[in-house]
Amino acid sequence: PYDGTVRALLARMTLEEKLGQLQQLPWEYNTGPGGPGTKEVEQAARQGRLGSVLNIFGARASNALQKIAVEESRLGIPLLFGLDVIHGFWTTFPIPLAQAASFDPQVAVRDAEVSAKEARSHGVHWTFAPMMDVTHEPRWGRIAEGNGEDPYLTAAFAAAKVRGYQGSGLSATDRIAACAKHFVAYGGAEGGRDYNTVDVSEARLRNLYLPPFKAALDAGVATVMASFNTVGGVPAHANTHTLTDILKREWSFDGMVVSDWNGVEELIPHGVAEDGAQAARRALHAGVDMEMTSTTMVTYGKRLVREGKISEQRVDDAVSRILRLKFALGLFAHPYVDEGGEIGAPTPDARAAARTAAARSMVLLKNDKGVLPVGRSVGSIAVVGPFGDSGDLLGTWVMPPAAQKFPAVTVLDAVRKAVPGGAVRYERGVAAQGDDTGGIPAAVAAARSAEVTFVVVGEPAALSGEAAARSDIGLPGAQEKLIEAIARTGKPFAVVLVNGRPLTIGGWLGSAPAVLEAWHPGIEAGNAIADVLFGRVDPGGKLPVSFPRTAGQIPIHYNHENTGRPYDPDDKFTSKYLDLPDGPQFPFGHGLSYTTFHMGAPSLSTDRIAVSALREGDTVEVSVTVVNTGSRQGDEVVQLYVHDRAAAIAQPVRRLRGFRRVTLAPGSSRTVRFRLGAEDLGFWTHAPQGEFLLEPGAIDLYVGNNSATEGTCTLSLT
Ligand code: IFM
Repeated sequence: PYDGTVRALLARMTLEEKLGQLQQLPWEYNTGPGGPGTKEVEQAARQGRLGSVLNIFGARASNALQKIAVEESRLGIPLLFGLDVIHGFWTTFPIPLAQAASFDPQVAVRDAEVSAKEARSHGVHWTFAPMMDVTHEPRWGRIAEGNGEDPYLTAAFAAAKVRGYQGSGLSATDRIAACAKHFVAYGGAEGGRDYNTVDVSEARLRNLYLPPFKAALDAGVATVMASFNTVGGVPAHANTHTLTDILKREWSFDGMVVSDWNGVEELIPHGVAEDGAQAARRALHAGVDMEMTSTTMVTYGKRLVREGKISEQRVDDAVSRILRLKFALGLFAHPYVDEGGEIGAPTPDARAAARTAAARSMVLLKNDKGVLPVGRSVGSIAVVGPFGDSGDLLGTWVMPPAAQKFPAVTVLDAVRKAVPGGAVRYERGVAAQGDDTGGIPAAVAAARSAEVTFVVVGEPAALSGEAAARSDIGLPGAQEKLIEAIARTGKPFAVVLVNGRPLTIGGWLGSAPAVLEAWHPGIEAGNAIADVLFGRVDPGGKLPVSFPRTAGQIPIHYNHENTGRPYDPDDKFTSKYLDLPDGPQFPFGHGLSYTTFHMGAPSLSTDRIAVSALREGDTVEVSVTVVNTGSRQGDEVVQLYVHDRAAAIAQPVRRLRGFRRVTLAPGSSRTVRFRLGAEDLGFWTHAPQGEFLLEPGAIDLYVGNNSATEGTCTLSLT
């Protein structure tokens, strides 16, 4: 809609001013190495050598900088302000991995709506979220920022988040532009080491990594960020195949592609550019439109155009994408944010949404002997563990001022509030990291004198997120020793895990009667944990990622392909580890409830359908009835998986193609219906540009409450 206006503005711009629009610089703090000072940023704005600034917020600060661009630069083009608002601005929601565990995309919508409103009131126009990197690597710290190991679940959450951030129009004062990141296959980092090499086939690229991005585009995402990794030897920032052939041509993306921090200049250490000029040429040529932090495009762009190494049309195209976004955000008409309108703190509504989100994200991994929920009439409780009285429950990517001003509600405070008449004693036992076990005897004494103990253990936020890979994903430090010591008391206890990734917990799982996976739950952490521990909320979350038994088993994910020699315990010559049972500790989709459910056999609207009919848009309905057979209200997630028995290329043993979270009163039932179409039953092959195939043959369908479910029926494609 802004093409004419953009063309008119472009016609007035010098080449230097155009290249200036391609530059983004960080303001006061750095989310990567290096970065200029604020004086340099102001100077660039004044000279029209700057299009965008990241890591700036606050109405006064952003208005002051905007004023320089609008009033002192020759053309007065407003700046675009970006910030990593990943799972909250002031109101920190659970980490994205946790949100995926809710199997309720509405959780992501609420996070994004609250975040957008708070952030925009502080002058932020654009968030670098949602992150939608599917990964099979729990060692990778950034698994916390995504939605786990499944492309279908991730796609649903990516689209939900984009809708929540952007609403129905970016010029609204409570919306911000979203950014689908990181394009692409960043989650494939070898060994889970951040920024590492990715070598991926065209089929895997299209079946595993690309679907969430396509879903984000279909939801109207305004921008895309390139990723730090290589894709088959070509860094994503120089990858014409992914950025231009697929994203901009095949998918017709007309929004803007931003580099990651120094991602353009890093083409030099990657070994595909000799110097900054070559790096700028390769990135621009591949399809990067805006350069974050490094300055190669603005420095060498003029020379590259003069030498014919980059066409001015390509520069114009990049600038147009940026200007269109600025017009869509309404920045030319309203460059400044209302300084009286800043949202200074989480509202009660926002807190309530964060609390609901956190409670819905929790996964009950184990609950023997009905330890949970604990009745509110309990007389004495011990809370032990390094995270029992800690505000370090917000997780990764929380702005420093948000962490300081609005830390998480602690578990101890929330438990005290939940049982006002009860005696609640806290002992830390051990630190979150390090070998000191000196506090264990006091923790044991507290557990001995209490009716029930909550052992709150996990990972500090700094151990997940960017540049936070771990080779050992067990509980850090001596925390496992604390659990074992509490187990030896023989008294009832529940372990509450607060972490940013799947952990290996097999060492102590057998001695813990109950384990609640709370992830990093955000600002309302303690309250939400107490809601679940005391049964105000029935835990209904499911794992969005497999929990390995040991790190040596990684990669382990439910959507793997079969080998020619699938696992058979009685046959030596089959695919397995000699020193481990087959399969993960907990599979994708696993999660218990305080009530019990029965799921009937799935039934199909037809058991045969022609491929040609599917291609024309026909669908098959799969229905299943779920009954709450217990005595409490509870939540169940009905999950639908497909498996193509014999295809042109080996298929995952299961692929999630539908899920629905339902709340059922005791004794009540619900029939859940899913529709399967061509997109759900076909797959991409390896042809040079990828080809989507839908073949005749048998498709096994599995419906149940985790990815290992056996409830099955078969659909024939004719
Ligand atoms: O948005 C982030 C990105 O995910 C990782 N590098 C830094 C960027 C800006 O902070």
